[in-house]
Amino acid sequence: MIDRSDALALDAADPLARWRDEFVIPDPDLIYLDGNSLGRTPKRTVEALHRVIDEWSGDLITSWWEHDWLHLALTVGDELAPLLGAGPGEVAVHESTTVGIFQQVNVALDLVPGRRVIAIDDADFPTDRYAVEGIARLRGGEIRHGLDDLAGVDVVLRSLVDYRTAEVADLVGETARASDAGATTVWDLSHAAGVLELNLPDAGVELAVGCTYKFLNGGPGAPAFVYVSRSIQHEVTQPIWGWFAQSDQFAMERPFDPRSGIGRMLNGTPPVLGLTAAREGIRVTVEAGITAVAAKARLITGFCIDLADEFGLATDTPRDPARRGGHVAVRHPDARHLHEALVDHNVVVDYRDPDVLRFGLSPLTTSFADVFDAMSALARLVDRA
Ligand SMILES: Cc1ncc(COP(=O)(O)O)c(C=O)c1O
Repeated sequence: MIDRSDALALDAADPLARWRDEFVIPDPDLIYLDGNSLGRTPKRTVEALHRVIDEWSGDLITSWWEHDWLHLALTVGDELAPLLGAGPGEVAVHESTTVGIFQQVNVALDLVPGRRVIAIDDADFPTDRYAVEGIARLRGGEIRHGLDDLAGVDVVLRSLVDYRTAEVADLVGETARASDAGATTVWDLSHAAGVLELNLPDAGVELAVGCTYKFLNGGPGAPAFVYVSRSIQHEVTQPIWGWFAQSDQFAMERPFDPRSGIGRMLNGTPPVLGLTAAREGIRVTVEAGITAVAAKARLITGFCIDLADEFGLATDTPRDPARRGGHVAVRHPDARHLHEALVDHNVVVDYRDPDVLRFGLSPLTTSFADVFDAMSALARLVDRA
């Protein structure tokens, strides 16, 4: 029988507990379990945004050079890189995840002349599915639905962490399986970045993309990241040609000649305010240490699953800690109404059609007591229903 004192004991032993104070938490009674969709606001982000607004106001256009705004997409990428096991010059932070997917799938198709078949799971996140349909339409490509049989497939787009169940795919094994079939995999790391320990080069990953506004606490609409392995950068042609990717950006009249390195993935003027917020969120996770963050994710999701079992709630989130991300999916036929009822109890989780409640347990901002209180509230509501 788990009781609240167990949660308090886990909080007392939590080496990351102090990081919660690094975040703006105006209502301490609100149990926010949606940091897997939109992470909380780091206090340092508020200061950093004020600072950049002062730069903008005072130094105006010279800020592009004086405050190095010009290179922000790449310097923020270099700060994010260690969270992916990547090196400097392998990550750029810019645009939305959807645009990043569009770029990366096109890059993968263009790596080998004649490529046109893209495989994706029908249960993958909608933007991923829509993006590949749009690409197939533009290029006269073909979509293969499902990933079991990769014969004849050129490019695979897939999420590392299932957005519904939190199941983690086998990064090494599945990258190799696709490669053996002659395909390049583009990994969507949106639900993995900032919560799982990753080493993309060791896993043989060449192309990846992901959000910074979820576990990385980068802020609403924070720009996404694209990773291109150094080993293939010289072969990469991306589809959105813009002046930030030009080898001599201010030469102006020259024909397009892409920069060497990750800079060739850039498009137009970077979103400086969004990048500033993304950078602070990334720094918080880097400083807290991804090994500790990932360890707490395994522990706190395990605690949530134990509570689901105890309260008789159904979950299809994997029980093997190594195979799950940072959220727990509870299934209930009345999930939509339970989601609303939880809000009345000061508990914010999210709902995914048709029957999933996602408990996002962002390790830096979620306490074990939060999980106990939220699951107890859900259990009471289910009993009453
Ligand atoms: C797997 C996955 N990919 C992409 C996105 C979002 O893409 P964008 O940042 O372009 O809205 C999400 C959002 O939740 C997601 O879960």
